[in-house]
Amino acid sequence: MLERIQEAADFLRARMHVCPQSAIILGTGLGSLVQDMTDRQEINYADIPHFPVSTVEGHSGKLIVGRLGGKDILAMQGRFHYYEGYSMKEVTFPVRVMRELGVRILFVSNAAGGTNPTFQVGDLMLITDHINLFPEHPLRGKNLDYGPRFPDMSEAYSKELIAAARQVAAEQGIPVRQGVYLGSQGPTFETPAEYRMFHLLGADAVGMSTVPEVIVARHCGMRVFGVSVITNVATAAEAPVEASHTEVQLAADAAQPRMTTLMKELINRI
Ligand code: HPA
Repeated sequence: MLERIQEAADFLRARMHVCPQSAIILGTGLGSLVQDMTDRQEINYADIPHFPVSTVEGHSGKLIVGRLGGKDILAMQGRFHYYEGYSMKEVTFPVRVMRELGVRILFVSNAAGGTNPTFQVGDLMLITDHINLFPEHPLRGKNLDYGPRFPDMSEAYSKELIAAARQVAAEQGIPVRQGVYLGSQGPTFETPAEYRMFHLLGADAVGMSTVPEVIVARHCGMRVFGVSVITNVATAAEAPVEASHTEVQLAADAAQPRMTTLMKELINRI
């Protein structure tokens, strides 16, 4: 495992013109943030030794190195989802490679379904915490020396980065929500009863990604900041709302300018 991570990192180090301390994982429909990056250098996942290759519509599969918000940054355009059939080790492989390359702060974005009934489609939710309901844990098995066997998760999402993001949002006039993201394996969207249950469990939003990458990032000591775009909202069972991939893409695309500004300004400030 360690060897494969190091081989991928060695390959990238030899090709990247800078080694950024920050990385961003671009979720559904948020890939256009890379158009705001300057001095771009792109590396296809398919060319990186041991890197899994992305398959889902709307996720293209490239690492992009460049500048955003005045900082060097490494962006992952396209992520690996557990529902695609990847193991948790594969889903989180890129995060470990990032660590090996010296990344210290991880920004994550995703599309999520709102379980908090006060949320609306298009809302941006700063992730304050998560609930891990994936059936396999990414740290299961021999502990890698990146971090402790039993990692602390009391501040999975950096309070300092959340505070900075709130300030950016206020200054830029971008309304933001905050809340708990629940990670569920998918690929089905939830039944009305499941949305209700997740809300009862303390979740404000549910999605099929992010939690594995954040766990691995925390294990290796990175600070993490995450935002969800609320692409659909569960309502009372009497009026179930259908969720579809198209609807998710459209809502995520519409939120893109706000998300881009928020991330860019936040990165500028750290
Ligand atoms: N559930 C799970 N994942 C999602 C949803 C949802 O409702 N919307 C966008 N991603």
